[in-house]
Amino acid sequence: MTPDRLKELVRTVPDFPARGVQFRDITTLINHGEGFAATVAMLSDTVEGSKAARIVGMEARGFIFGAAVAARLSLPFVPIRKPGKLPIDALGVDYALEYGTDRLELDPGAFEEGERVAIVDDLIATGGTALAAAQLLRQAEVEPVCAAFVIDLPDLGGAARLREADVPVSAIMSFP
Ligand code: PRP
Ligand code: ADE
Repeated sequence: MTPDRLKELVRTVPDFPARGVQFRDITTLINHGEGFAATVAMLSDTVEGSKAARIVGMEARGFIFGAAVAARLSLPFVPIRKPGKLPIDALGVDYALEYGTDRLELDPGAFEEGERVAIVDDLIATGGTALAAAQLLRQAEVEPVCAAFVIDLPDLGGAARLREADVPVSAIMSFP
């Protein structure tokens, strides 16, 4: 399947979760078996090319794609979680979203020192979430070598911000 065909499987919902937001909904993409498989295959090619030794995905939509890519590549997967969910002392970073603020947490003991780690998520908008993930990885003393997304919203500038932070970025499709 081509990226253009995959893009047709993403549903756009206006004014969700707040007025003025065009919500790009991946639930329709993952509810299409061939579309989901093709998406995971494309993300996997990117992650494989980065020579990452481990994959992180951000709660919740990042788990869907990150875990699927990890299983496809037989790489280990580490969840980056919303606050208060990890049962151990975790690193935490607060960040801003297109429609609010949040916090992400990570188990620093989940990595080998200095290893290469890939970030996988469904979508990059402002980049707040992915930058928080990259910051957490650097605090854990590992290297974010790749950030792979299904969707980029380039007008919100997240991919550019991530590249400025020296994290290579790729996305299967964009919604300008
Ligand atoms: C969404 C999406 C990304 C993030 C992108 O997650 O899955 O993680 O927003 O936005 P940003 O680039 O502006 O940070 P959300 O926080 O809505 O949580 P969810 O995965 O639980 O739906
Ligand atoms: N996360 C942040 N902005 C989003 C958008 N416009 N659509 C879907 N998820 C998002």
